[in-house]
Amino acid sequence: MIGSGEMGQGIAEVFAIKGYNVMLEDVSRDILEMAINRIKQSLEKLSKKGSLGIDTADTVISRIKTSTSIEESAKDADLVIEAVPEKEELKKKVFQDLEKYSRSNTVLASNTSNIRITDIAKDLKNRKRVAGLHFFNPPVIMKLVEVIKGEETSDDVVETLYRLIKGIGKYPVKVMKDVPGFIVNRVNAPGGLLMCLLVDHKIAEPEEIDAYMKTQGMPMGPFELMDYVGIDVAYHSMQYLARTVNQDFGKCRILEDLYKRNMLGMKTGKGFYDWSKGRPVIDTKKATDKFSITDQYVVEINEAVKLIDDGVASPEDIETGIKYGLNRPFGPIYVAKTLTDAEVSKRLESLVKKFNNSVFDPAESIKNGKMREAIEGLTMKKNEEKVK
Ligand code: 3HC
Repeated sequence: MIGSGEMGQGIAEVFAIKGYNVMLEDVSRDILEMAINRIKQSLEKLSKKGSLGIDTADTVISRIKTSTSIEESAKDADLVIEAVPEKEELKKKVFQDLEKYSRSNTVLASNTSNIRITDIAKDLKNRKRVAGLHFFNPPVIMKLVEVIKGEETSDDVVETLYRLIKGIGKYPVKVMKDVPGFIVNRVNAPGGLLMCLLVDHKIAEPEEIDAYMKTQGMPMGPFELMDYVGIDVAYHSMQYLARTVNQDFGKCRILEDLYKRNMLGMKTGKGFYDWSKGRPVIDTKKATDKFSITDQYVVEINEAVKLIDDGVASPEDIETGIKYGLNRPFGPIYVAKTLTDAEVSKRLESLVKKFNNSVFDPAESIKNGKMREAIEGLTMKKNEEKVK
């Protein structure tokens, strides 16, 4: 496991719980020590609940060794997962090292949130063994893992990873076309942007929006969630989508402001909320009535339809992805079944005008009155035929 931050430590923990020997790598001994302490705290919680089966927390932790050398970490591994910060050049460099130091049949996977696997693997000699394996925070709790096929990833590698993820008791979804943000982060991104714009335009405060979202069955409000995963992660994601998909993803001022002030959320103790005394308590009495959750669903439905039309994932995998990747009661496909094309189009057009933001432009299938066909997977089938 390359990188022992929030995700790296959680993924190492997941595999150790399932009986795998893990080598956890990072740049310094201090960072690794902090990671091991965090894993111990998490294992203690799980052990108290009886979730570790016959293993004790000590047995599980004994399966995790640490190292500050990529060479030492990679040389005997069957699978290497990279979870270093979300910077394309850094990830590319790590994969070059991994190609040099690992056995030729070792599978190399990236836990990148958004960056195309094809781009990360671009400069390698053997790109067939490189894939995406995208976990969700916190990895020990969240069930979903996206298995991403880069343009040159072999089918065998994808199948092996898919079976491995099933074997550790998680729900894998296949991302068959390597697009920025894959399924969950891509479908979730326009919703995040919309939330930011509501704050930037002073329509509602973060806490008022979070309070409202909690009353609608969300486990965390969008701003608490951004603090939880890291303002840096959220900011880099939006910037990457702005460079690769639509520059209007980059129009969130409040996120940029926090990032530039190094207010990175839970990890620095301050972000949208103060985390110095633990998780913020959100008062649902402050729920805003200036915004409807239907708008959030509509922008997610729109992005989901764009992915279906483009042949990235099936409607079923998108629904599973959002449900289990974000712990929601249901996803956008479920909601789309209750709405008409005209309703969705009208709401999207109104958001485009209100915020002058083309991210919300309706998908072709929605414009053409074919949303229902899209969410039944019919427009995707046509796309597959076109590809053949
Ligand atoms: N280790 C062990 N146990 C943990 C844990 C961890 N790391 N984190 C939470 N728990 C346990 C708690 O101890 C608690 O146990 P209990 O019920 O026995 O007391 C239980 O989980 C529930 O936790 P809390 O009571 O503290 O709070 P919640 O009920 O709100 O659950 C949550 C916490 C599971 C994080 C929930 O709020 C949630 O699902 N939030 C949404 C998370 C999400 O959307 N993640 C995806 C983010 S996007 C992403 O990761 C992609 C990346 O690319 C950016």
